[in-house]
Amino acid sequence: MPRVVTIDGPAGAGKSSVARRLAGRLGWRFLDTGAMYRVVTLAALRSGADLASDHDLGKLVDDLDVSWLAGQVLLGREDVTAAIRGVEVTGASRFVADSPSVRRRLVQWQRAFAAGADTVTEGRDQGTIVFPDAFRKFFLTATVEERARRRFADLQASGQSLSFESVLEDLRVRDARDVARPIAPMKPAEDAVLIDTSGMTIDQVVEQLVGRITTTDQ
Ligand code: C5P
Repeated sequence: MPRVVTIDGPAGAGKSSVARRLAGRLGWRFLDTGAMYRVVTLAALRSGADLASDHDLGKLVDDLDVSWLAGQVLLGREDVTAAIRGVEVTGASRFVADSPSVRRRLVQWQRAFAAGADTVTEGRDQGTIVFPDAFRKFFLTATVEERARRRFADLQASGQSLSFESVLEDLRVRDARDVARPIAPMKPAEDAVLIDTSGMTIDQVVEQLVGRITTTDQ
């Protein structure tokens, strides 16, 4: 059976960078489940689907032609890797994340992805819902101010101009929604290791995880 390491936690806790680097270190596959919700959101926005309709979103996701190629996300033949990171997609993604039909289908995609090879996966519900029997589970946190600082720097680097205050407020709102979601709310699995990444570099976090993964006792 291929092994799975789950990394869950709030937006801006460093999950993506840590999970990607960890997967590289271990020689495992990397799965960014937020990108899955984002690509469905982009397709829904483009098609004019009613974002509040579980039925419409379920139909859309069933017909979607998405592929994951070495760090790229393709919608049909179009590379949408950058497009799914836009502010509009980020804002609308909560409707898609709240849709039971979408979640059901994406959980199937995630399990199918991890069935083929050892995988490091990151998201909100990976240790609780999608991979309850994962080999190792981690939950990364950081103070909301620190997460806002990191997100603000990323946005500036990618040329998106938002104020620090709006980034901080957006994270507060997203945290509240992620925790309160009726299905698959964000929470640490009972057997997850909690790591506060405030003040730590990505490499330091990765070292900690590697240490815990390569030890024989949990
Ligand atoms: O992590 P990221 O910001 O890319 O997530 C995009 C959206 O998908 C967010 O609304 C987040 O709450 C949601 N999500 C989710 N379950 C996951 C991963 C992300 O509901 N496993």
